[in-house]
Amino acid sequence: MGNNHSSSSRVNRHNNGTMRLKNKKSKQQLMEREEHKESAKSRFHLPKNDQDIDRMQLQHFLFKHIWNDENYSSPIEQILKSGDCKVLDAGCGPGAWLLEMSTQHPLTRFFGVDIAAVFPSEIKPTNLNFHQCDINRGLPFKDNYFDFVRMSLMATSLKTDQWVNVIRELVRVLKPGGHLELIERELQVYNAGPHFTFMIKNIMSFKNSNDLNVYITNQIPLIFSSIPSLTGIQTDFRMVPIGPLGGQSGLIYGDLLDMYFTNKLGDILPKFMNITEREYLNLWDRCQSEFNIYATTVKLFRFWAQKVVVNNDDDEEDYNDNNIEEGVGNDDQLEN
Ligand SMILES: C[S@@+](CC[C@H](N)C(=O)[O-])C[C@H]1O[C@@H](n2cnc3c(N)ncnc32)[C@H](O)[C@@H]1O
Repeated sequence: MGNNHSSSSRVNRHNNGTMRLKNKKSKQQLMEREEHKESAKSRFHLPKNDQDIDRMQLQHFLFKHIWNDENYSSPIEQILKSGDCKVLDAGCGPGAWLLEMSTQHPLTRFFGVDIAAVFPSEIKPTNLNFHQCDINRGLPFKDNYFDFVRMSLMATSLKTDQWVNVIRELVRVLKPGGHLELIERELQVYNAGPHFTFMIKNIMSFKNSNDLNVYITNQIPLIFSSIPSLTGIQTDFRMVPIGPLGGQSGLIYGDLLDMYFTNKLGDILPKFMNITEREYLNLWDRCQSEFNIYATTVKLFRFWAQKVVVNNDDDEEDYNDNNIEEGVGNDDQLEN
């Protein structure tokens, strides 16, 4: 008995030890997983991986196609051919728009900035330069430098309180007479089924909880009108279909959303919704089935305006005066 008891105690002690070890290990694994998810959440505004970068590139071609194959709406055709034109794409990502435009307009000089160096560093046209910088800390260019400035799909990158300053910074580097163009998609969806409506509602709450402004698209014209040096404000939009009922474009956008929901959001949204990844993927499957029944769409907007020609420098005095010479911009120089 005694032996049995002691051997069973040993077994128990051993088992308890293993259990403690297992508990410790799974607790540690859990903590690591939580840390990974937290850091995934805090890096949500950055491109996640190669698939996410591919998604952005494909999306550029789809959105251009939906816009009658036009890469811009501002009246810049003539200046692009002039041989004395400079263009900036802020938050350019992998640079699909810039690569295409710089190839089509060899006389114009193109510049792209992004906080993440996901743009090509070597294989690119010679009239195209990229700089890594945080747009919230000011752009590494002189005042009144560009003829055309664009910024596309930054709604998940800029926090609510950053938008006005960023747009002012874009206006600062724009020449009087030059054009500013912003491209954003509404987060609201039209004619969605119940599961996709539920999913979008959760994405909105998730973005809200990350200080992102889920209604920024509709507020851009108001921000433009609050900047005295912008005039001729214009808005246009296109409906982007999702799924087979939207033809080829709908199928492609359905695939892009599949990449977005399973890859980009796949590890953070289930946690936010307090469901398992399997439950989340089941929910996404149901959303996809709904695209066969509901002709769901989203609205893609373009906003553009011209910077007024001013006779004195007063108009610029409020803007960030942290000017840096052309072509030398990077984070280090911004800190100096
Ligand atoms: C959704 S992607 C859009 C990329 C591209 N403009 C497009 O339309 O496909 C947002 C981009 O903004 C960049 N970004 C996020 N925060 C930024 C910041 N503070 N300064 C500069 N770029 C930023 C990200 O790295 C990412 O490449």
